[in-house]
Amino acid sequence: MLTQAPKGTRDMLPQDAYIWQTIEAVMRRRAALAGFREVRTPVFEHTELFLRGVGDTTDIVQKEMYTFKDKGDRSITLKPEGTAGAVRAFLEGKLFADALPCKMYYLNTPVFRYEKPQAGRLREHHQFGMECFGGKSPAVEAELISTLLGILGDLGLKGLSVNINSIGCPNCRPRYHAALKEYLGGHLNELCEDCRERFDRNPLRVLDCKVPTCKALVQDAPSMLDMLCEDCREHFQQLQNLLSAKGIPYEVDTHIVRGLDYYTKTVFEIMVSRGREGLALCGGGRYDGLVEQLGGPATPAAGFGIGTERIIMELENQGITLPMPPLCDVYVANLGEEARQPAFLLCQHLRELGVRAEEDVCGRSLKAQFKYADKIAARYIVLVGGDELARGVVKVRDLSTREEQEIALEDAAREIAVLL
Ligand code: HAM
Repeated sequence: MLTQAPKGTRDMLPQDAYIWQTIEAVMRRRAALAGFREVRTPVFEHTELFLRGVGDTTDIVQKEMYTFKDKGDRSITLKPEGTAGAVRAFLEGKLFADALPCKMYYLNTPVFRYEKPQAGRLREHHQFGMECFGGKSPAVEAELISTLLGILGDLGLKGLSVNINSIGCPNCRPRYHAALKEYLGGHLNELCEDCRERFDRNPLRVLDCKVPTCKALVQDAPSMLDMLCEDCREHFQQLQNLLSAKGIPYEVDTHIVRGLDYYTKTVFEIMVSRGREGLALCGGGRYDGLVEQLGGPATPAAGFGIGTERIIMELENQGITLPMPPLCDVYVANLGEEARQPAFLLCQHLRELGVRAEEDVCGRSLKAQFKYADKIAARYIVLVGGDELARGVVKVRDLSTREEQEIALEDAAREIAVLL
């Protein structure tokens, strides 16, 4: 128990850190190219924010939040997604008063959902998300999708499909709700238990159900796209025009509704092309009403979130290995007690010159130090001690060619730095 992480959580071990860091570097670069700057918000927020932001009829709020009372009797919730916190920061920081659009991204923010753990579904996962406030044009969604595909492409991922839909706005959605309820109402006892509940609370979610009988039933359900108002129809058409102009293939999937209540107009998901059966790599959309709903000025907005663990899972599925950076350039070995201090100083000097240098801190024999240098794939090993030390020199061995040379201890750090 003590040595087991809580169910649904995962460590990032030091040997895997480079994978996360490579992904982060790609995300930062692509986000900066599109003019997005980083935001960091707390891991927990007042529960009320998510009740009002995410929607109190959603599965996330009803079943999945980590909510507790703090010592001051406040109801606190660990972030179950990134958007509500970003909107809260946008409002609290009065960013709406600055020049808009305000473009922000969060990088590997921890997200907590009490879900049934399975492949790709964790209780703590990490999200990269981009949120753009103040842009009402469909160019925002096109920019988000394009940046996202840029990130996934830089990482070498292939076979991704962009699925888009429009779920309308407060003007046209009620009409659709009514039509959908009328259709589903005629088939209530064919729906799964969850969907019977959804029928009252949130009928759109029935469209998204994975249970085969519900899936079959919604095939003939009325489509939101047929009931969009003029504004939503035009917006969705323009988004498709932009994606086509940029050469981004996409599919319109009228069954994407997303599991959060704040979306208006566009919703999208990026799937690996094994189909809708699989897990979404990414999800996002427009949420024009959320800023106002949380007490701010009416501000159109759109964004997406993508789980880093799912990216890593897909990299593995596609057999993509990211290049591992070298761990160590130079290993400074010592030949015994009298060599420890000069070895320590040489190692420090090398690091000051920007060289990845390591020395023995375990009191190992020379043989064991060589073995360790090999294990960490050091390029050079420097021997400090013995006769050489007495003569004021060190032996430098290139571990790939096995060639050796002597260098004056005094100049060793500078000369080794040049060798690299
Ligand atoms: P979401 O679709 O709930 O959207 O989550 C976004 C992504 O987070 C998913 O596509 C998936 O990669 C990852 N993810 C979600 N749940 C889990 C889990 N249990 N385990 C591992 N990975 C998971 C949102 O959260 C929205 N806030 C996205 C957004 C931002 N919309 C607008 N702006």
